[in-house]
Amino acid sequence: MTTGRGTEDRAAERTARRVGGIEVRPVAGHIGAEITGVDLAEGLDDDAVAVVRQAVLRWKVVFFRGQRLDHAGHVALARRFGEPVVLGRRGSVSPPDFPEVETTADRLELGGRFGMEHDEWLQRRRHTLLRGWHCDHGARVDPPAATVLRAETVPPYGGDTTWSNLAAAYAGLSAPVRAFVDGLRAEHRLGVGYQPRPGDDSYLRHLLDHQVASVHPLVRVHPETGERVLFVNGYYVEQIVGVSRPESAALLEMLLEQAVRPEYTVRFRWEPGSVAFWDNRATIHLAPSDNAHLDFPRVMHRVMLTGDVPVGVDGTPSQPLVGTRPGHW
Ligand SMILES: [Fe+2]
Repeated sequence: MTTGRGTEDRAAERTARRVGGIEVRPVAGHIGAEITGVDLAEGLDDDAVAVVRQAVLRWKVVFFRGQRLDHAGHVALARRFGEPVVLGRRGSVSPPDFPEVETTADRLELGGRFGMEHDEWLQRRRHTLLRGWHCDHGARVDPPAATVLRAETVPPYGGDTTWSNLAAAYAGLSAPVRAFVDGLRAEHRLGVGYQPRPGDDSYLRHLLDHQVASVHPLVRVHPETGERVLFVNGYYVEQIVGVSRPESAALLEMLLEQAVRPEYTVRFRWEPGSVAFWDNRATIHLAPSDNAHLDFPRVMHRVMLTGDVPVGVDGTPSQPLVGTRPGHW
């Protein structure tokens, strides 16, 4: 754990840190840093990669503005930090020549795909306040290590993304509760809590035909920083294993509230050319829900990096339940 950092380290972090022309400027108390002085399209040298990697591990999500990445540059950037995920299935607007890139264009895809307006689909998935919060592909036995998301077209207002630091959330629990949750595990499942439509529901059929579920430790040990991470989210967690349903529901409510307390979060205002690079092992994020009524286009491109199977405090790894094998996408 890194809770023992010295005063000197903390003092250095209070202000921006400049290394070889690259500046890392923290933007919130527990999470988020803006990185300037780097042109991602030009490619990063080894020193720059080390600075960015360290900033991602320390601040969990870093932001770049005014970048001019295309799909090839986006994939090349990701490749400097790991192995890009090649998705078996992507949305209809993703670029066919770049299988690592997944494009989302709000409301253009899902309406046609599942016979539902995007708003209704969101409502049925996110019927509680906390349901939208997730890590990417968290029901897999090996969720991606990181995500690099780039904005092409964004609304003039609305459409911000918010992230929360799950290592800080864990550290913020009281010692007795930390000790209690250290030994627990939870089932994560794609589509958990989805409220089906009456009658024919093609999204429900899709969920049943493409089930993905795993049991993850409730507290995972970060493979690079050694930090303990409160590995919960509202989107995938079905229930805590080995306790009753009511106990699980009450515990999850408490832990989810802890996970997304405002002091552990940062919110990012996208501009065309903005890039966010986050540690998907130590954060959850909330996609925007304040822009559907605005009728502005929002086009984003995502590349993810393959990740490890999580390991709990006692060394026990996550277990696949259905539809997921390590390294197989
Ligand atoms: Fe996401």
